[in-house]
Amino acid sequence: MKIAVVGTGYVGLVSGTCFAEMGNDVWCVDKDEEKIAGLQNGVIPIFEPGLKELVQKNSDRLRFVTDISEALQEANICFIAVGTPPGEDGSADLSAVLAVASSIGKAMVRHMFVVDKSTVPVGTSRKVRQAIQHELNLRGSNLTFDVISNPEFLKEGTAVHDCLLPDRIIVGTDTDKAARLMSDLYKPFLRSTGRLLQMDIASAEMTKYAANCMLATKISFINEIANICELVGADVNKVRMGIGSDPRIGYSFIFPGCGYGGSCFPKDVQALIRTSGGLGYDARILQAVEAVNESQKLALPRRIVARYGESLTGLHFTCWGLSFKPDTDDMRCAASLVIIDELTKRGAKVHAYDPQAEKVARTIYFRDNESIEYFDGKYDALKGCDALILITEWKEFRSPDFERIKECLREPVIFDGRNQYEAESLQEMGFEYHQIGVGDNFVEWR
Ligand code: UDX
Repeated sequence: MKIAVVGTGYVGLVSGTCFAEMGNDVWCVDKDEEKIAGLQNGVIPIFEPGLKELVQKNSDRLRFVTDISEALQEANICFIAVGTPPGEDGSADLSAVLAVASSIGKAMVRHMFVVDKSTVPVGTSRKVRQAIQHELNLRGSNLTFDVISNPEFLKEGTAVHDCLLPDRIIVGTDTDKAARLMSDLYKPFLRSTGRLLQMDIASAEMTKYAANCMLATKISFINEIANICELVGADVNKVRMGIGSDPRIGYSFIFPGCGYGGSCFPKDVQALIRTSGGLGYDARILQAVEAVNESQKLALPRRIVARYGESLTGLHFTCWGLSFKPDTDDMRCAASLVIIDELTKRGAKVHAYDPQAEKVARTIYFRDNESIEYFDGKYDALKGCDALILITEWKEFRSPDFERIKECLREPVIFDGRNQYEAESLQEMGFEYHQIGVGDNFVEWR
């Protein structure tokens, strides 16, 4: 098949590359000239394991262009995979999606299957349709098109794997020919375990929000249980295993921590709250999910202030991990932003180490924060510090050399925001070890 994918962010670039891997001809389109020039020279704008190799492998079938007309000269399927960032009120900003829809209307030269892969509120397909039709009318053209909803469920860090081996593909259509086309396109991806679920467009759009909101709810739920565990003197690690063993609950996505971040959960929870609010429904569970998450990002600063006092002047903390989760350099809505901000505004200095996100931190998120010093190695970052704070559970932090940590730190204190270590053995080694949801540490804050 001949496919155009507009938007070369996580979703667009990974999906386009995976379509090429399955033998399709793909045009990846982005208006960012620098990004496209980079991609033409093999420079991948995001850190995502396996992506660079897959782009190289499929270079014969992948083209990177800035002009959508060039792509639509050949393609008859056009995926929209541009961002839908939260607007000022938290609702999804559709301007990029609708701008692409208009440009499709202007550039299409044959029947077009327009597939929405961006996460968009229910009803967006109607707006996409109107935007395309408007341009066709201006051109006096009687070309026809189908609009399809095909939300993407890939996770950063495992995006290539998730895309090549999806556990399900959701397709929302309103014509048989669109349904058949999507089924043909995805057949090679679904050989092993995956399922293709065909439905109406509104349900497909809603499925994406429901999935992300459910996952965010699981995380806020366990974080709330963790806070209560601290108050009643229980250990959330044991409670997690205890509840996970019930197959109706399951073990996945109930790891307590310092809150969820990333480009999807925070934005999608907010967007669904806004959508429901706009329709007169008060989404109380989702509001609580968001409130618990915001508060959870303060769990470590709360502990640290309880331990050292309101002023942290003169103290140095090592932060391991800045990205919102391992295997990515993405820091959008990361807990590290809140944690480091809370520490440095109280006068602390931070030694930061992250295997991938240092550049993003330096150049974007902490550009103006002079209290942070960056290090190339995790042990170097510890030297002369008063405590280690683990924020992101990169694999290289899982079983570090604790003796070396002790030698480097001024005092053997660890604040673990991801409950990675065995409390007993650390205590035997002489560490003061703080985790989430263990001990009688909870202090209400703000
Ligand atoms: C998520 C969805 O998983 C994916 O299906 C969707 O397409 C996009 O949004 P992603 O944002 O890449 O993917 O990350 P994910 O691995 O889901 O983690 C999100 C956040 O939740 C991270 O900050 C992570 O640390 C946190 N998390 C996850 C927990 O705190 N506890 C858990 O048990 C699981």
